[in-house]
Amino acid sequence: MADAPLVLGIETSCDETGVGIVRGETLLVDAIASSVDEHARFGGVVPEVASRAHLEAMVPTIERACTTAGVSLRDLDAVAVTAGPGLAGALMVGVASAKALALALGVPLHGVNHLASHVAVDIVEHGPLPEPTLAMLVSGGHSSLLLVPDVTHDVRSLGSTIDDAAGEAFDKVARVLGLPFPGGPHIDRMARDGRVVIDFPRGLTTGRDMERHRFDFSFSGLKTAVSRWVQAKEAAGEPVPVADVAASFQEAVTDVLTRKAILACREHGVGHLQIGGGVAANSRLRAMAQERCDAAGIELRVPRPGLCTDNGAMVAALGAQMVLKGRPPSDLSIPADSSMPVTEVSA
Ligand code: KG4
Ligand code: ZN
Repeated sequence: MADAPLVLGIETSCDETGVGIVRGETLLVDAIASSVDEHARFGGVVPEVASRAHLEAMVPTIERACTTAGVSLRDLDAVAVTAGPGLAGALMVGVASAKALALALGVPLHGVNHLASHVAVDIVEHGPLPEPTLAMLVSGGHSSLLLVPDVTHDVRSLGSTIDDAAGEAFDKVARVLGLPFPGGPHIDRMARDGRVVIDFPRGLTTGRDMERHRFDFSFSGLKTAVSRWVQAKEAAGEPVPVADVAASFQEAVTDVLTRKAILACREHGVGHLQIGGGVAANSRLRAMAQERCDAAGIELRVPRPGLCTDNGAMVAALGAQMVLKGRPPSDLSIPADSSMPVTEVSA
C-alpha cells in the first residue's frame, strides 16, 4: 500500500491534542498530548484551559507524530481535522492549524465529524467496516446508536441520550464516590473488587418509556439513584461500600447499553456491532458486549482502549477513507462547528 494516501488527522474537540497519521487503512502513529491533569482539580474540562493547552501542544505534537512515523509533512496527501462537535475554542485551534497546514502544503483539507471518526477508527484496527454497521458511540458528551451504511457520507441516528451521556454519568457518579476526574477509569478499576449487589434503575427499558424511546438512553435517574443511596448510607452513619456501588452502577449502565445495541442490530438486520468512544474502554462493557453478541450471533468490533478515547488516529482514519472514496474536500473557509450533527460526516 505504498501508494495509498498518507493522511494526517488533528483532533482538538475536548482536552486531548491528538495527531495521527494513517496510510490508507494502516495506522502509522497516534501522538497525544493531554491537558486532563490541568482540569482534574476543577472536576471537569475548563474550555479556556483546554484551548490554551491545544495551542501550546499543537506544533510539538505534529512534529512528534512525523518523527515517530518517519514521514515528512511534504509527503502528506491530505490533512483531516475534527470540525465538530466539541468545545468551540478547542475545535478552533485544530481547525485553524489544519487549514494552515493544508494551505502551506497545497493538499486537500477534510473537516470531519468527531463522532463518525470514533466509528471510522476501527478500520485501522480491524479492517474495512461492514456496510451497514450498527455503531454505538459512548463518550463523555454522547451516547448514540447509529446505523452506518457508509461512514464517509451516510450515518443515521437511531437514538441517543435524552439527558446525560454515559461517560458523564460515570464522571458524576465517580464524584459522588469521591473518585478523581475523569471518573470512568476509576469506576472501572474499583468495580473489579466490587459485587453487583444493588439493583439500580435501568432507564427507558420498560413499558411506555421503552415504546417511546426504543433506542434512546437516559442516565440521569441512575445517577440520582446512586447519589440517594450513598447519602442514605452516610446519614445512617454506615461506611459506603464504594467498590460495590461502582460495580452495581457500572452493571446498570452496561446492561442498558448492550441490551439496546443488540436490539437495534436485530431490528435492523445488521450482523455487526461496533462500539466506540471513551466509555468503550470500560472492561465490563467490553466483556458484556462480547458475551451478548456471541449469544446473538453478532460480530462485535471494539478498538483497543487507547483508540476508544479521543485521539488523532481516528480523524486520520476517517480522512483517509474520504480520500480513498473520492469524497470532495472541505473548503478552507469551513468553521469549527461546536454542535455539528452526527448525521453530517464532513463539513
Ligand atoms: O471519547 P472521550 O475520550 O471524550 C469525549 O468525546 O467525550 O470520552 C471520555 C469519557 C469520560 O467521561 C471518561 O470518564 C470515559 O470516557 N471513560 C470511561 C473509561 N475510560 C474513559 N468510562 C468508563 N470506563 C472506562 N474505562
Ligand atoms: Zn470523543
